[in-house]
Amino acid sequence: MKRRDFLKSSAWTVLGTLTALSSRRVLGANENIRVGIIGVGRQGSYHAERLSKMAGVQLVALADPDPGYKMGLLQQELAHREDNPLEVDVHRDFRALLDRKDIDAVVIVSCNHWHSLHSILALQAGKHVYVEKPVSHTIWEGRQLVNMAKKSGLVVQAGLHHRSRACWPEAIEYLKQGHLGKVICSCGLCYKQRDSIGLLESPASPPSTCDYDLWLGPAQEQPIRRPQFHYDWHWLWNTGDGDLGNQGVHQVDIGRWMLGQDGYPEHVLSIGGRFGYKDAGETPNTQIVFYDYKPVPMIFEVRGLPAQPGVRGMSIYKKTRIGNVLECEGGYIAEETVYDKQGKKMHTFSPHGGELHLSRFIEAVRNNTPQDVPCSILDGHISSALCHLPNISHQLGAQTAAAEITEKIKADVLQSEAWARFLEHLRVNQQDLEKNRPVLGAALTFDGTTEQFTGDLAAQANPLARGHYRPKWQVPAID
Ligand SMILES: NC(=O)c1ccc[n+]([C@@H]2O[C@H](COP(=O)([O-])OP(=O)(O)OC[C@H]3O[C@@H](n4cnc5c(N)ncnc54)[C@H](O)[C@@H]3O)[C@@H](O)[C@H]2O)c1
Repeated sequence: MKRRDFLKSSAWTVLGTLTALSSRRVLGANENIRVGIIGVGRQGSYHAERLSKMAGVQLVALADPDPGYKMGLLQQELAHREDNPLEVDVHRDFRALLDRKDIDAVVIVSCNHWHSLHSILALQAGKHVYVEKPVSHTIWEGRQLVNMAKKSGLVVQAGLHHRSRACWPEAIEYLKQGHLGKVICSCGLCYKQRDSIGLLESPASPPSTCDYDLWLGPAQEQPIRRPQFHYDWHWLWNTGDGDLGNQGVHQVDIGRWMLGQDGYPEHVLSIGGRFGYKDAGETPNTQIVFYDYKPVPMIFEVRGLPAQPGVRGMSIYKKTRIGNVLECEGGYIAEETVYDKQGKKMHTFSPHGGELHLSRFIEAVRNNTPQDVPCSILDGHISSALCHLPNISHQLGAQTAAAEITEKIKADVLQSEAWARFLEHLRVNQQDLEKNRPVLGAALTFDGTTEQFTGDLAAQANPLARGHYRPKWQVPAID
């Protein structure tokens, strides 16, 4: 759909959008940056707390279609807190917030299926944008957001805050100096316990306080079978991207940065499944992903089940549960620590900086320096797409006997080792892989220049990279 048609068909005709860029406030050097938050759930509340205490920032308004979840209470808490009570406006409809002329920047913390559209509409309304990860729910819409950001000239930052940690540039320098020899594999881990989300026998209604149509936006209307309406949307393809696109996207982003890759691998393969419980969730809770970057590959592992059945606590790989491990000839880097091959500590980098990610956005807005953001929207888009690619591989895959998978990947040592770890983890968790076979994903080929799948599976994979939207909430194509 062309942008002109989108403007006509959208419920909100984005009136004023075309003039929005020119009607932006000119900021004085000592003026507060006036900020609004779109999406006030768990993470939105956290950002609100931080912004409400940040020097040089005025938190002005919040928007959420369900004020009964967190937003109403938060408004009260801010107004009545002992230190620095703060009056903020609340809007059920984010379009009312975007229409305001007294807001310079928005922080987008809605559900994943909204991120790209919220960001595009905010940029069209002339607001600087900080958007939480993943910045997209499909590869195509992420690219439209990148195009819109370029067109707008506004500050746009992806909320991948590990980019602001000092340890990573230090690690790049350390590797350059040759202390560990060549890098053999960039490994990302998301070993994060995820329990069953439950399964309702008959579909539930959304919370009575929620404007469900506005909550759904571009996503499809489907029966609600999860007992907890908020947050658990992460585990449904309609609205979420599994733990790979949730926690994992941070480590996927760092993993490719450490390899110096600013694009895509040609081939991607996922192996995974949802093990340990039957619930309303659809996304894998156990997954390994192979990205065939050249010359050094990247491997990602997701585990939602614990180290042992019935315990709380996750297993550990090379001293890491959630983080990045760079395997090298002479040892490995696990997060901010360097170890030799025997696991003896050799060096430590500074772990700090992540907490500055949001204030660095404010700084870029104040200085009007879009180029200075610590994580550009292009990087946010590519790293988000790197989560969508294996998820598409998974969705096009088939449940396969473990022995067949072993046979299929046996030529690749790193893949076979990761697969052996996967099998051992599920064996310890007493999973019967004959009853619930792992999904061997489709081996996909991707052209990074066109952001299109090629080869035999292109016709099935490309529609999943494009997505489809409810008519009222189409993401516009932006050249
Ligand atoms: N950077 C990080 O480390 C980090 C940590 C946690 C969450 N997040 C991200 O933050 C986002 C929110 O996660 P969460 O845990 O707070 O989930 P949540 O379900 O608690 O909150 C999402 C909120 O978005 C609201 N929402 C839905 N449609 C909306 C619309 N049209 N307009 C405005 N708001 C809308 C929901 O009502 C809800 O309040 C996710 O994308 C998640 O990936 C990032």
